[in-house]
Amino acid sequence: MAKIIDGKKIAAEIRGEIAQECAELKAKGIVPGLAVIIVGEDPASQVYVRNKKKACEEVGFHSEVYELPEATTEDELLALVKRLNADDSIHGILVQLPLPKHLNDEIIIDNIDPKKDVDAFHPYNVGEIMIGEYDYLPCTPAGVMALLEKSGIQVEGKHCVVLGRSNIVGKPQAMLLLHANGTVTICHSRTKNLALYTREADILVVAVGKADFVTGDMVKDDAVVIDVGMNRRADGKLTGDVDFATVEPKASYITPVPGGVGPMTITMLLKNTLTSAKKHNNL
Ligand code: GUN
Repeated sequence: MAKIIDGKKIAAEIRGEIAQECAELKAKGIVPGLAVIIVGEDPASQVYVRNKKKACEEVGFHSEVYELPEATTEDELLALVKRLNADDSIHGILVQLPLPKHLNDEIIIDNIDPKKDVDAFHPYNVGEIMIGEYDYLPCTPAGVMALLEKSGIQVEGKHCVVLGRSNIVGKPQAMLLLHANGTVTICHSRTKNLALYTREADILVVAVGKADFVTGDMVKDDAVVIDVGMNRRADGKLTGDVDFATVEPKASYITPVPGGVGPMTITMLLKNTLTSAKKHNNL
């Protein structure tokens, strides 16, 4: 029987610390501010953006949400980004992805001031993460690291297998595990004999976007299994990338979906916004 890593509880603890720091900043006349831009009407993105705004309000941050129509042009979006880059009340700028097809993610992200890039998606911040000297945490991978740390799970010397190589999760996750002295293997959709690798994992982080993809026979006894997946079943229920029913009996620790990694991602976004507010005020 695995210990369940309670992401909701750990996220609440960290958000409490952030709220406390925010109150201390406010006493000095500084209010951390996050601007979130959403283009179009993707329902999943709308939920994420609502949750980000709510999380900001709960810790005492200033937040602005810009809901732009699907037909927004690149010039219009860039004009808004540039205006926010120059706005001293805004410390973090987040452009919700995916953008509509006629807009190029890369061009937009490249135009966010790297010092306000609280997603850590700008090439400057990605480079800093690669080097290991970064101010802004890649939100989901940093959330995973915080779950491991708060659960007392050591990474050093462990074989860490990451399933997925996206720019948002897989690649930065591998870097953070490496910086923590893990031995890291990255697997992806073209990996042959995938189970040969997953069965060797002391720590398995799964971010493939396929419901119940990792099954009990793919996991070794006492592995730590972290499920980054967020898939919606036909009946509307959320499920991860890990088949909880068959993996949980073999694992030593496992994250549930929902209530595992999910609550940590926004928590790390809040942490980055706080960091930015402090840096912009030379604190
Ligand atoms: N879309 C899905 N996840 C994310 C995220 O972490 N940041 C942004 N900006 N868009 C996303």
